[in-house]
Amino acid sequence: MCGIVGAIAQRDVVPFLVNGLKRLEYRGYDSAGLAVLSDELRRVRRTGRVAEMEGAALAEGLHGFLGIGHTRWATHGGVTEGNAHPHISDGELALVHNGIIENHEEQRDRLRALGYAFESQTDSEVIAHLIQHYLKTEGDLLHATQKAVRELTGAYAIAVVSQREPGRFVAARMGCPLLVGLGEGENFVASDVSAVVAVTRKVIFLEEGDVADVHLDRVDIYDASGARVDRRAHMSDVSLASLELGPFNHFMQKEIHEQPRAIADTIEPVIAEGFAPRLFGAGAEELLRDVEGVQILACGTSYYAGLVARYWIEEIAGLPCSVEIASEYRYRAAHANPNNLIVTISQSGETLDTMEALKYAKSLGHGKTLSICNVPESAIPRASAMVFYTRAGAEIGVASTKAFTTQLIALFALTGTLAKLRGRLDAAREHEFLEDLRHLPGSVQHALNLEPQITAWAEMFNHKHHALFLGRGLHYPIALEGALKLKEISYIHAEAYPAGELKHGPLALVDADMPVVVIAPNDALLEKVKSNMQEVRARGGELFVFADADSHFRDSEGVHVIRTPRHVGLLSPVVHAIPVQLLAYRTALKRGTDVDKPRNLAKSVTVE
Ligand code: M6R
Repeated sequence: MCGIVGAIAQRDVVPFLVNGLKRLEYRGYDSAGLAVLSDELRRVRRTGRVAEMEGAALAEGLHGFLGIGHTRWATHGGVTEGNAHPHISDGELALVHNGIIENHEEQRDRLRALGYAFESQTDSEVIAHLIQHYLKTEGDLLHATQKAVRELTGAYAIAVVSQREPGRFVAARMGCPLLVGLGEGENFVASDVSAVVAVTRKVIFLEEGDVADVHLDRVDIYDASGARVDRRAHMSDVSLASLELGPFNHFMQKEIHEQPRAIADTIEPVIAEGFAPRLFGAGAEELLRDVEGVQILACGTSYYAGLVARYWIEEIAGLPCSVEIASEYRYRAAHANPNNLIVTISQSGETLDTMEALKYAKSLGHGKTLSICNVPESAIPRASAMVFYTRAGAEIGVASTKAFTTQLIALFALTGTLAKLRGRLDAAREHEFLEDLRHLPGSVQHALNLEPQITAWAEMFNHKHHALFLGRGLHYPIALEGALKLKEISYIHAEAYPAGELKHGPLALVDADMPVVVIAPNDALLEKVKSNMQEVRARGGELFVFADADSHFRDSEGVHVIRTPRHVGLLSPVVHAIPVQLLAYRTALKRGTDVDKPRNLAKSVTVE
């Protein structure tokens, strides 16, 4: 978590640093700060949002040609101005850090013994003092940084400036993302491309262990061994418009409404190629041909996408499939079958738990690794043998929406491909599935049109403290996703159960104050779901049912029904994800929470 930026230019860099931090705010938003070099090193820090820090920077007339900035998601040390970055050493060196330094205590003791005083509770401050220590002995900011980072264990992306060397700044990364933005007579670093796209599209993604020496007219990059290296520059295709709100009030709202487009874009290569291994990159056919089972690893919403895929993979491809929360898998004595396919799902491509689970799977001998990801060039796809990039576009709201539905498309494409390779998908069925995919954006648009009815429901959820979500089979993961969305952004406590599990305990919670949301389209388990709903009604529970026309539900006392679009078949979970997203969004609006930046959370979770 945390976002960092750095810049050196022949103009005032403060506007770039502030705007860059605003773009990175999704990564953490507890506190923010800048350090800028003009005649002297000046720093501004504030708890709260970047806008508050910006106000202070303006009031203090902060300006300079060289500077660094940070927006924080607290790990070590509370949310205080003293713990906000940049951290300063000896009044002349400033540093921003994203990540966690595991040996910070040992380094702190050592640096204290050398006479350094600590002003914060953060692990990051040790890096500032360590680099300053070597700068004093080495006399060169690049060498000092290279020497210091070799002594760190853990994860970091850093940027550091020193008053002693006003013509450069140094940046480095290990385990956290960092890129260099190449301008004309000015250069930048940032945690992701959204922060630099307003000034340049030409970017270099730094590799693990890289250290970049950034000057006005050049950027020299050194690998972990200290050797000078050439890293390929990419032209980013992220558009500024995709990072703006446009006519919407929140990014979550925008991203919910972008789903017909996001799904259509993600489907495009599948429609063009059919269910073909090359959708997953060169060499995929070889890796996918003899797969004996599938192990999916992910966190949060991405994990729920995996749970939907399990039904598809077992039913259509006829392969055993397990889905596991990445942070659990990585610490389990898992039995590896190297012929199994490991699928990691991650919107950001940098979730630490998922990355570590992938590394663990590889250490157990798994070579068939596939990443489903929304962020090109991010760490998880780069560590995988195959990749499918969803085409959702930048997802900025902390609550994942369009990433989820496009992950489902990727997983459906994988299912069809595995089934075809195994001789379980004839041309007629493939055509049928492709037609279902083709109609999906239209069905999703119909689901979006339910917003006014869902807004009326949100009124009824506004003063509730708890909610239950029920589903069965393919729609059980959608119930889980609905509960996660509601708790994440409205702070209403919500849980999801497979409807058949209700009578084994959770039914005890049901009374008139407990709204029970049921995902009940007409599928093979509908009659079972209806019985479970009776169990709720008999205990005075109020039902809120998402059902298609074929489910034959009508509003009655204590039963509210919204008719979802008829998209029967295996892709129905994609359509039913929309109303639960809208219910969470509309309820959060009524409760006045910060929809895009819910308390205590951040968009990409690069800590354990
Ligand atoms: O970037 P990832 O898909 O790896 O993120 C995984 C979870 O942190 C993420 O889905 C989280 O649960 C969302 N905030 C849920 O809306």
